[in-house]
Amino acid sequence: MTELNPESYVQSNEMKMPVVGLGTWQATEEQIETALNIAIDAGYRHIDTAFVYMNEPAIGKALKKFFDCGKIKREELFIVTKLPNIANDAKYVEEYLKRSLSSLQLDYVDLYLIHHPVGLVNGDDLLPRHENGKVKIDVNTDHVAIWKAMEAQVNASRTKSIGLSNFNIKQIEKILKSARIPPANIQVELHVYCQQKELRDFCNKNNITVCAYAPLGSPNLTQFTEVLGGDSSRIPKLSPLLDPVVLRIAEAHEKTPAQVLLRHLLQLGLAVIPKSANPDRIRQNFQVFDFQLTENDMSELNALDKGKDGKMFTIGLLNGIELHPEYPG
Ligand code: A2P
Repeated sequence: MTELNPESYVQSNEMKMPVVGLGTWQATEEQIETALNIAIDAGYRHIDTAFVYMNEPAIGKALKKFFDCGKIKREELFIVTKLPNIANDAKYVEEYLKRSLSSLQLDYVDLYLIHHPVGLVNGDDLLPRHENGKVKIDVNTDHVAIWKAMEAQVNASRTKSIGLSNFNIKQIEKILKSARIPPANIQVELHVYCQQKELRDFCNKNNITVCAYAPLGSPNLTQFTEVLGGDSSRIPKLSPLLDPVVLRIAEAHEKTPAQVLLRHLLQLGLAVIPKSANPDRIRQNFQVFDFQLTENDMSELNALDKGKDGKMFTIGLLNGIELHPEYPG
């Protein structure tokens, strides 16, 4: 196993992504500055956000403060944001990246991702829904055309690199065929119950780094889905943080279950973006470089994979996206 340390990164051509990033989905405006402050002090250099998280302005405000007072320099951070579903059209890519940059008060991001393969109807509403609760899909989504517009953003220096999120292998293959700049990274749901082995192998072969979202199994997802008006009954009742195997391995290493879950993914060669707004847990999630899982631990954790049955991000959150021709399955 390659040595892992707080400066470790996953790399695709020029893109070097620090292996542990701070996830910010669901972090409220009030929580952001403290969370980022603690994270930077703890050693995080990678921040993950998205247009749809609606916290880019708060992140931008905090970052400006940190840059102005010399706490950290822009070039020391790796900042990721994403094109929202409602802008999944070549004609919106530049506009939405510019809007994110303006909110973040940045000249460039390090990585810009297409957030999701499914397009939704454009407008002010980030989650447009029909009266029956189903999201309003835009069936004209053309990934190859969107990707060309993404490539243009690299040339315009608004982003250093580009990638994908929530795409399946077939969809990535299609983009790779025509890409002038191949995707440097894909971000997908990935945790001990949903290990995405086939996708990881495919990405490995194609020099695409993989970043795991929901690396702890997103324990707050049911509650959040309900807040967003989704159908939480479709989310499997699974808690990787409470798995007996994870608990036993954690005890043996005198680490927490979360640290074991993160370390497992790091030792698989991935980047991880655990979300936390809690100071102790933010620090805890970065303290994953002072122990090593044994080959036996790794085999036991690998055996916990439930494939598709372990997926938490089902259509419950975006009921109706399954009707789109680019629904990734
Ligand atoms: P909180 O922000 O209160 O810490 P994921 O990244 O898998 O989606 O998980 C995020 C969720 O897990 C959040 O609800 C977060 O709550 C919680 N969480 C983050 N870190 C830990 C940890 N070390 N132990 C337990 N729960 C955690």
